[in-house]
Amino acid sequence: MQIGIDKLSFATTPFYLDLVELARARDVDPNKYLIGIGQEKQAVVPPTQDAVTLGAAAALKLMTPALKERISTVLVATESGVDNSKATAVYIKRLLGLSRFTRVVELKEACYAATAGVMMAKGLVATDPQSVVLVIGTDIARYGLNTPGEVTQGAGAVAMTITANPRLLSLDQVSVTASDDLMDFWRPLYSEDAMVDGKYSTQVYIDFFLQTFERYQEMTGRQWADFDALLFHLPFTKMGKKALEALLGDHDDPDSQRLRAALTASQQYCRQVGNLYTGSLYLSLLSYLQNGQARPGQRLGLFSYGSGAEGEFYSGVLQPNFENQLNDVAADLATRQQLSVAEYEKSFNGQLGLADTDVSFDTSKDPSPFWLTGQGGHQRQYQVNQ
Ligand code: CAA
Repeated sequence: MQIGIDKLSFATTPFYLDLVELARARDVDPNKYLIGIGQEKQAVVPPTQDAVTLGAAAALKLMTPALKERISTVLVATESGVDNSKATAVYIKRLLGLSRFTRVVELKEACYAATAGVMMAKGLVATDPQSVVLVIGTDIARYGLNTPGEVTQGAGAVAMTITANPRLLSLDQVSVTASDDLMDFWRPLYSEDAMVDGKYSTQVYIDFFLQTFERYQEMTGRQWADFDALLFHLPFTKMGKKALEALLGDHDDPDSQRLRAALTASQQYCRQVGNLYTGSLYLSLLSYLQNGQARPGQRLGLFSYGSGAEGEFYSGVLQPNFENQLNDVAADLATRQQLSVAEYEKSFNGQLGLADTDVSFDTSKDPSPFWLTGQGGHQRQYQVNQ
Protein backbone atom coordinates (compact mmCIF):
# COMPACT_ATOMS: atom_id res chain seq x y z
CA MET A 1 0.00 0.00 0.00
CA GLN A 2 1.28 3.47 -0.92
CA ILE A 3 1.17 6.09 1.85
CA GLY A 4 2.07 9.75 1.61
CA ILE A 5 0.99 13.37 1.35
CA ASP A 6 -2.47 13.76 -0.17
CA LYS A 7 -2.91 17.55 0.18
CA LEU A 8 -0.60 20.40 1.18
CA SER A 9 -1.41 24.03 2.03
CA PHE A 10 0.27 27.10 3.49
CA ALA A 11 -0.84 30.21 5.37
CA THR A 12 1.04 33.19 6.70
CA THR A 13 0.23 36.56 8.25
CA PRO A 14 -1.39 39.39 6.22
CA PHE A 15 1.64 41.69 6.72
CA TYR A 16 5.26 41.78 5.57
CA LEU A 17 8.42 43.83 5.95
CA ASP A 18 10.64 44.69 2.98
CA LEU A 19 14.18 43.67 3.96
CA VAL A 20 15.81 46.47 1.97
CA GLU A 21 14.05 48.86 4.37
CA LEU A 22 15.24 46.78 7.32
CA ALA A 23 18.81 46.84 5.98
CA ARG A 24 18.71 50.64 5.73
CA ALA A 25 17.31 50.93 9.26
CA ARG A 26 20.06 48.64 10.59
CA ASP A 27 22.78 50.41 8.55
CA VAL A 28 23.61 47.25 6.60
CA ASP A 29 24.28 46.93 2.85
CA PRO A 30 20.94 45.60 1.43
CA ASN A 31 22.88 43.08 -0.67
CA LYS A 32 23.94 41.30 2.48
CA TYR A 33 20.27 40.46 3.06
CA LEU A 34 19.24 40.02 -0.61
CA ILE A 35 22.30 38.05 -1.80
CA GLY A 36 24.39 37.08 1.23
CA ILE A 37 21.43 35.71 3.22
CA GLY A 38 19.03 35.38 0.28
CA GLN A 39 15.89 36.93 1.77
CA GLU A 40 13.68 39.73 0.33
CA LYS A 41 10.64 39.97 2.60
CA GLN A 42 9.63 38.73 6.02
CA ALA A 43 6.20 37.94 7.46
CA VAL A 44 5.24 40.33 10.28
CA VAL A 45 3.07 38.92 13.05
CA PRO A 46 0.31 41.10 14.52
CA PRO A 47 -0.65 40.49 18.19
CA THR A 48 -3.83 38.79 16.89
CA GLN A 49 -1.88 35.87 15.35
CA ASP A 50 0.02 33.01 16.97
CA ALA A 51 0.91 29.37 16.30
CA VAL A 52 -2.71 28.32 16.88
CA THR A 53 -4.35 30.79 14.48
CA LEU A 54 -1.70 30.28 11.78
CA GLY A 55 -1.94 26.49 12.00
CA ALA A 56 -5.74 26.60 11.80
CA ALA A 57 -5.57 29.00 8.83
CA ALA A 58 -3.27 26.64 6.90
CA ALA A 59 -5.52 23.65 7.60
CA LEU A 60 -8.64 25.59 6.59
CA LYS A 61 -7.20 26.00 3.08
CA LEU A 62 -7.27 22.25 2.45
CA MET A 63 -10.44 21.41 4.40
CA THR A 64 -13.69 20.14 2.87
CA PRO A 65 -16.83 18.90 4.70
CA ALA A 66 -16.06 15.32 3.57
CA LEU A 67 -12.45 15.52 4.77
CA LYS A 68 -13.54 16.85 8.17
CA GLU A 69 -15.45 13.61 8.72
CA ARG A 70 -12.40 11.45 7.96
CA ILE A 71 -9.64 13.06 10.06
CA SER A 72 -8.74 10.67 12.87
CA THR A 73 -5.69 12.45 14.29
CA VAL A 74 -4.24 15.96 14.36
CA LEU A 75 -0.46 16.18 14.93
CA VAL A 76 0.76 19.75 15.41
CA ALA A 77 4.50 20.37 15.28
CA THR A 78 5.66 23.67 16.76
CA GLU A 79 8.42 25.33 18.75
CA SER A 80 6.14 28.33 19.33
CA GLY A 81 3.67 26.52 21.58
CA VAL A 82 1.30 28.66 23.66
CA ASP A 83 1.08 26.44 26.74
CA ASN A 84 3.44 24.03 28.48
CA SER A 85 0.63 21.58 29.09
CA LYS A 86 -2.24 21.99 26.65
CA ALA A 87 -1.51 21.03 23.03
CA THR A 88 -1.82 23.61 20.27
CA ALA A 89 -3.65 20.84 18.39
CA VAL A 90 -6.63 20.99 20.79
CA TYR A 91 -7.29 24.65 20.02
CA ILE A 92 -6.84 24.06 16.28
CA LYS A 93 -9.20 21.10 16.29
CA ARG A 94 -11.89 23.26 17.89
CA LEU A 95 -11.39 26.22 15.53
CA LEU A 96 -11.69 23.86 12.52
CA GLY A 97 -14.82 22.21 13.93
CA LEU A 98 -13.41 18.66 13.79
CA SER A 99 -15.12 15.68 15.42
CA ARG A 100 -14.94 15.18 19.16
CA PHE A 101 -13.57 11.70 18.39
CA THR A 102 -10.24 13.03 17.14
CA ARG A 103 -6.78 12.27 18.59
CA VAL A 104 -4.79 15.50 19.12
CA VAL A 105 -1.19 16.02 20.22
CA GLU A 106 1.70 18.49 19.92
CA LEU A 107 5.20 17.46 18.76
CA LYS A 108 8.51 19.23 19.46
CA GLU A 109 12.09 18.95 18.23
CA ALA A 110 12.81 22.41 16.80
CA CYS A 111 12.28 22.70 13.04
CA TYR A 112 12.34 18.91 12.55
CA ALA A 113 9.07 18.02 14.32
CA ALA A 114 6.67 18.25 11.34
CA THR A 115 8.72 15.50 9.68
CA ALA A 116 8.34 13.39 12.82
CA GLY A 117 4.60 14.05 12.36
CA VAL A 118 4.71 12.81 8.76
CA MET A 119 6.53 9.61 9.80
CA MET A 120 4.17 8.96 12.73
CA ALA A 121 1.18 9.62 10.47
CA LYS A 122 2.55 7.10 7.99
CA GLY A 123 2.52 4.48 10.76
CA LEU A 124 -1.03 5.38 11.81
CA VAL A 125 -2.31 5.11 8.24
CA ALA A 126 -0.52 1.77 7.80
CA THR A 127 -2.51 0.36 10.74
CA ASP A 128 -5.81 1.94 9.58
CA PRO A 129 -5.76 2.68 5.81
CA GLN A 130 -9.14 4.43 5.97
CA SER A 131 -7.87 7.11 8.31
CA VAL A 132 -6.63 10.59 7.41
CA VAL A 133 -4.00 12.20 9.62
CA LEU A 134 -3.71 15.99 9.59
CA VAL A 135 -0.11 17.12 10.16
CA ILE A 136 0.51 20.83 10.81
CA GLY A 137 3.81 22.68 11.23
CA THR A 138 3.21 26.16 12.64
CA ASP A 139 5.68 28.71 14.01
CA ILE A 140 6.80 32.25 14.59
CA ALA A 141 10.57 32.62 14.14
CA ARG A 142 11.78 35.35 16.53
CA TYR A 143 15.44 36.21 17.09
CA GLY A 144 15.04 39.75 18.41
CA LEU A 145 15.37 43.29 17.09
CA ASN A 146 18.89 44.26 16.02
CA THR A 147 20.28 40.72 16.22
CA PRO A 148 22.19 38.88 13.42
CA GLY A 149 19.27 36.46 13.17
CA GLU A 150 16.67 39.24 12.74
CA VAL A 151 16.87 39.11 8.94
CA THR A 152 16.00 35.38 9.03
CA GLN A 153 12.79 35.78 11.06
CA GLY A 154 9.46 34.74 9.56
CA ALA A 155 6.11 33.15 10.36
CA GLY A 156 3.54 30.82 8.93
CA ALA A 157 2.17 27.30 8.87
CA VAL A 158 1.82 24.35 6.55
CA ALA A 159 -0.89 21.71 6.77
CA MET A 160 -0.89 18.31 5.06
CA THR A 161 -3.05 15.26 5.05
CA ILE A 162 -1.35 11.87 5.16
CA THR A 163 -3.39 9.08 3.59
CA ALA A 164 -3.29 5.75 1.76
CA ASN A 165 -3.09 6.11 -2.05
CA PRO A 166 -1.97 9.76 -1.78
CA ARG A 167 -2.64 12.14 -4.69
CA LEU A 168 0.43 14.34 -4.15
CA LEU A 169 3.61 12.57 -2.96
CA SER A 170 3.90 8.83 -2.35
CA LEU A 171 6.63 8.21 0.25
CA ASP A 172 9.45 5.74 -0.36
CA GLN A 173 10.06 3.09 2.29
CA VAL A 174 13.59 4.15 3.30
CA SER A 175 14.32 7.25 5.35
CA VAL A 176 17.38 8.07 7.46
CA THR A 177 17.24 9.93 10.77
CA ALA A 178 20.17 11.19 12.90
CA SER A 179 20.18 13.00 16.24
CA ASP A 180 22.73 14.52 18.65
CA ASP A 181 22.42 16.50 21.90
CA LEU A 182 24.05 19.84 21.00
CA MET A 183 23.46 23.57 21.45
CA ASP A 184 23.29 25.30 18.07
CA PHE A 185 19.89 26.95 18.61
CA TRP A 186 17.44 26.77 21.51
CA ARG A 187 14.83 28.81 23.39
CA PRO A 188 14.77 28.59 27.20
CA LEU A 189 11.35 28.64 28.89
CA TYR A 190 11.86 32.23 30.06
CA SER A 191 12.62 33.67 26.61
CA GLU A 192 10.35 34.74 23.75
CA ASP A 193 13.31 34.87 21.36
CA ALA A 194 15.62 32.11 20.17
CA MET A 195 19.25 31.83 21.30
CA VAL A 196 21.53 30.79 18.48
CA ASP A 197 25.15 30.10 17.66
CA GLY A 198 24.58 31.02 14.00
CA LYS A 199 27.81 29.85 12.36
CA TYR A 200 27.85 26.62 14.35
CA SER A 201 24.20 25.92 13.45
CA THR A 202 25.03 26.34 9.77
CA GLN A 203 27.88 23.83 10.00
CA VAL A 204 25.84 21.30 11.98
CA TYR A 205 22.99 21.56 9.45
CA ILE A 206 25.36 20.76 6.54
CA ASP A 207 26.94 17.85 8.46
CA PHE A 208 23.53 16.33 9.20
CA PHE A 209 22.53 16.65 5.54
CA LEU A 210 25.69 15.02 4.18
CA GLN A 211 25.61 12.22 6.78
CA THR A 212 21.93 11.31 6.38
CA PHE A 213 22.15 11.50 2.59
CA GLU A 214 25.26 9.30 2.51
CA ARG A 215 23.54 6.65 4.59
CA TYR A 216 20.42 6.91 2.41
CA GLN A 217 22.61 6.25 -0.65
CA GLU A 218 24.16 3.19 1.01
CA MET A 219 20.72 1.82 1.92
CA THR A 220 18.97 2.45 -1.42
CA GLY A 221 21.72 2.52 -4.03
CA ARG A 222 20.26 5.84 -5.27
CA GLN A 223 22.67 8.68 -6.07
CA TRP A 224 21.94 12.39 -6.34
CA ALA A 225 21.57 12.01 -10.10
CA ASP A 226 18.50 9.83 -9.43
CA PHE A 227 16.58 12.82 -8.01
CA ASP A 228 14.64 15.46 -9.91
CA ALA A 229 14.89 17.81 -6.93
CA LEU A 230 16.51 17.92 -3.49
CA LEU A 231 14.40 20.03 -1.13
CA PHE A 232 15.65 21.57 2.10
CA HIS A 233 14.53 23.07 5.37
CA LEU A 234 15.31 26.73 4.64
CA PRO A 235 16.02 28.90 7.71
CA PHE A 236 17.10 31.37 5.00
CA THR A 237 17.46 30.56 1.30
CA LYS A 238 21.28 30.73 1.21
CA MET A 239 21.32 27.80 3.66
CA GLY A 240 19.85 25.41 1.07
CA LYS A 241 22.46 26.57 -1.45
CA LYS A 242 25.27 25.92 1.04
CA ALA A 243 23.98 22.38 1.67
CA LEU A 244 23.45 21.53 -2.00
CA GLU A 245 26.86 22.92 -3.00
CA ALA A 246 28.50 20.88 -0.22
CA LEU A 247 27.09 17.82 -1.99
CA LEU A 248 27.60 18.80 -5.65
CA GLY A 249 30.99 20.48 -5.33
CA ASP A 250 32.43 21.36 -8.75
CA HIS A 251 30.00 19.18 -10.75
CA ASP A 252 28.38 21.06 -13.62
CA ASP A 253 26.71 18.28 -15.62
CA PRO A 254 22.98 18.14 -16.59
CA ASP A 255 22.05 16.35 -13.33
CA SER A 256 23.70 18.92 -11.07
CA GLN A 257 22.27 21.76 -13.20
CA ARG A 258 18.78 20.26 -12.77
CA LEU A 259 19.22 20.08 -8.99
CA ARG A 260 20.46 23.69 -8.83
CA ALA A 261 17.48 24.91 -10.91
CA ALA A 262 15.08 22.95 -8.70
CA LEU A 263 16.65 24.51 -5.59
CA THR A 264 16.10 28.01 -7.01
CA ALA A 265 12.42 27.20 -7.61
CA SER A 266 12.06 25.77 -4.10
CA GLN A 267 13.52 28.93 -2.52
CA GLN A 268 11.03 31.41 -4.02
CA TYR A 269 8.38 31.37 -1.30
CA CYS A 270 10.90 31.31 1.56
CA ARG A 271 12.47 34.49 0.11
CA GLN A 272 9.09 36.19 0.55
CA VAL A 273 8.17 34.90 4.00
CA GLY A 274 11.29 33.98 5.99
CA ASN A 275 11.90 31.05 8.30
CA LEU A 276 8.83 28.98 9.18
CA TYR A 277 10.75 26.62 11.48
CA THR A 278 8.64 23.40 11.39
CA GLY A 279 6.87 24.25 8.14
CA SER A 280 9.90 25.43 6.20
CA LEU A 281 10.79 22.20 4.35
CA TYR A 282 7.18 21.80 3.23
CA LEU A 283 7.02 25.38 1.96
CA SER A 284 10.11 24.51 -0.12
CA LEU A 285 8.19 21.53 -1.51
CA LEU A 286 5.20 23.77 -2.35
CA SER A 287 7.50 26.34 -3.93
CA TYR A 288 9.17 23.71 -6.15
CA LEU A 289 5.79 22.29 -7.17
CA GLN A 290 4.42 25.71 -8.16
CA ASN A 291 7.58 27.38 -9.54
CA GLY A 292 9.78 24.54 -10.83
CA GLN A 293 9.71 21.90 -13.56
CA ALA A 294 7.69 19.48 -11.40
CA ARG A 295 6.16 16.50 -13.25
CA PRO A 296 4.31 13.35 -12.13
CA GLY A 297 6.69 10.44 -11.61
CA GLN A 298 9.58 12.59 -10.42
CA ARG A 299 11.48 11.41 -7.36
CA LEU A 300 12.05 14.18 -4.80
CA GLY A 301 14.49 14.09 -1.86
CA LEU A 302 13.57 15.98 1.31
CA PHE A 303 16.02 17.05 4.02
CA SER A 304 14.47 18.02 7.33
CA TYR A 305 16.58 19.64 10.07
CA GLY A 306 15.84 20.76 13.61
CA SER A 307 18.44 22.34 15.86
CA GLY A 308 19.40 20.65 19.04
CA ALA A 309 19.64 18.53 16.82
CA GLU A 310 17.88 16.08 14.53
CA GLY A 311 17.93 15.54 10.77
CA GLU A 312 16.11 13.22 8.41
CA PHE A 313 16.52 12.54 4.70
CA TYR A 314 13.62 10.85 2.95
CA SER A 315 12.10 10.71 -0.51
CA GLY A 316 8.89 10.28 -2.47
CA VAL A 317 7.41 10.14 -5.94
CA LEU A 318 5.12 12.84 -7.38
CA GLN A 319 1.64 11.64 -8.30
CA PRO A 320 -0.56 12.45 -11.35
CA ASN A 321 -2.42 15.78 -11.07
CA PHE A 322 -0.53 16.69 -7.88
CA GLU A 323 -1.05 20.38 -8.79
CA ASN A 324 -4.75 20.07 -7.80
CA GLN A 325 -3.79 19.23 -4.22
CA LEU A 326 -2.18 22.59 -3.31
CA ASN A 327 -3.35 26.10 -2.48
CA ASP A 328 -2.21 29.00 -4.70
CA VAL A 329 0.56 30.45 -2.54
CA ALA A 330 1.64 33.19 -4.97
CA ALA A 331 -1.93 34.54 -5.10
CA ASP A 332 -2.15 34.53 -1.29
CA LEU A 333 1.19 36.33 -0.91
CA ALA A 334 0.09 39.00 -3.38
CA THR A 335 -2.69 40.11 -1.00
CA ARG A 336 -0.31 40.96 1.87
CA GLN A 337 0.14 44.51 3.10
CA GLN A 338 3.60 46.07 3.54
CA LEU A 339 4.49 47.56 6.93
CA SER A 340 7.21 50.09 7.74
CA VAL A 341 10.12 49.19 10.02
CA ALA A 342 8.48 51.20 12.83
CA GLU A 343 5.19 49.30 12.38
CA TYR A 344 7.09 45.97 12.33
CA GLU A 345 8.89 46.83 15.56
CA LYS A 346 5.59 47.80 17.20
CA SER A 347 4.03 44.49 16.12
CA PHE A 348 7.10 42.58 17.30
CA ASN A 349 6.90 44.17 20.75
CA GLY A 350 3.09 43.91 20.88
CA GLN A 351 2.80 40.12 20.87
CA LEU A 352 1.35 38.44 23.93
CA GLY A 353 4.53 36.46 24.55
CA LEU A 354 5.09 35.54 28.20
CA ALA A 355 2.77 38.26 29.61
CA ASP A 356 0.55 37.02 32.46
CA THR A 357 -1.93 39.91 32.39
CA ASP A 358 -5.43 40.22 30.92
CA VAL A 359 -5.38 41.91 27.53
CA SER A 360 -7.76 42.51 24.63
CA PHE A 361 -6.46 42.95 21.05
CA ASP A 362 -7.93 45.05 18.25
CA THR A 363 -8.77 42.59 15.45
CA SER A 364 -10.22 45.18 13.04
CA LYS A 365 -7.08 45.40 10.85
CA ASP A 366 -6.45 41.65 10.64
CA PRO A 367 -8.33 39.87 7.80
CA SER A 368 -7.09 36.39 8.86
CA PRO A 369 -9.70 33.61 9.29
CA PHE A 370 -8.87 33.09 13.00
CA TRP A 371 -7.86 35.55 15.72
CA LEU A 372 -6.20 35.51 19.09
CA THR A 373 -8.48 38.16 20.61
CA GLY A 374 -6.59 38.39 23.90
CA GLN A 375 -6.04 36.77 27.27
CA GLY A 376 -8.34 36.64 30.30
CA GLY A 377 -7.85 34.80 33.59
CA HIS A 378 -4.63 33.26 32.17
CA GLN A 379 -6.57 31.76 29.26
CA ARG A 380 -5.91 32.61 25.63
CA GLN A 381 -9.06 33.66 23.78
CA TYR A 382 -9.56 32.58 20.17
CA GLN A 383 -12.26 33.55 17.72
CA VAL A 384 -13.32 32.64 14.19
CA ASN A 385 -13.43 35.68 11.88
CA GLN A 386 -16.92 35.50 10.32
N1 CAA B 1 26.77 41.65 -0.42
C1 CAA B 1 26.62 40.31 -0.63
N2 CAA B 1 26.85 39.38 0.34
C2 CAA B 1 27.23 39.81 1.55
C3 CAA B 1 27.40 41.17 1.84
C4 CAA B 1 27.16 42.13 0.78
N3 CAA B 1 27.27 43.42 0.98
N4 CAA B 1 27.77 41.29 3.13
C5 CAA B 1 27.85 40.04 3.64
N5 CAA B 1 27.51 39.15 2.69
C6 CAA B 1 27.44 37.69 2.81
C7 CAA B 1 28.59 37.07 3.58
O1 CAA B 1 29.73 36.90 2.76
C8 CAA B 1 27.96 35.76 4.04
O2 CAA B 1 27.96 34.85 2.96
P1 CAA B 1 28.42 33.33 3.21
O3 CAA B 1 27.59 32.80 4.34
O4 CAA B 1 28.14 32.67 1.92
O5 CAA B 1 29.86 33.38 3.56
C9 CAA B 1 26.49 36.14 4.30
O6 CAA B 1 26.30 37.39 3.61
C10 CAA B 1 26.16 36.34 5.76
O7 CAA B 1 27.08 37.22 6.29
P2 CAA B 1 27.64 36.99 7.77
O8 CAA B 1 28.08 35.58 7.95
O9 CAA B 1 28.62 38.07 8.07
O10 CAA B 1 26.27 37.23 8.56
P3 CAA B 1 25.98 37.25 10.09
O11 CAA B 1 27.19 37.14 10.94
O12 CAA B 1 25.12 38.44 10.28
O13 CAA B 1 25.13 35.90 10.36
C11 CAA B 1 23.64 34.05 10.17
C12 CAA B 1 24.42 35.17 9.41
C13 CAA B 1 24.62 33.18 10.94
C14 CAA B 1 22.91 33.18 9.16
C15 CAA B 1 22.62 34.73 11.10
O14 CAA B 1 21.65 35.37 10.32
C16 CAA B 1 21.93 33.78 12.05
O15 CAA B 1 22.41 33.50 13.13
N6 CAA B 1 20.70 33.26 11.65
C17 CAA B 1 19.92 32.40 12.47
C18 CAA B 1 20.49 30.99 12.58
C19 CAA B 1 20.21 30.11 11.40
O16 CAA B 1 19.27 30.33 10.63
N7 CAA B 1 21.04 29.04 11.21
C20 CAA B 1 20.84 28.11 10.10
C21 CAA B 1 20.90 26.65 10.46
S1 CAA B 1 19.99 26.25 11.96
C22 CAA B 1 18.47 25.74 11.49
O17 CAA B 1 18.25 25.35 10.38
C23 CAA B 1 17.39 25.73 12.49
C24 CAA B 1 16.62 26.94 12.31
O18 CAA B 1 15.69 27.00 11.48
C25 CAA B 1 17.00 28.09 13.10
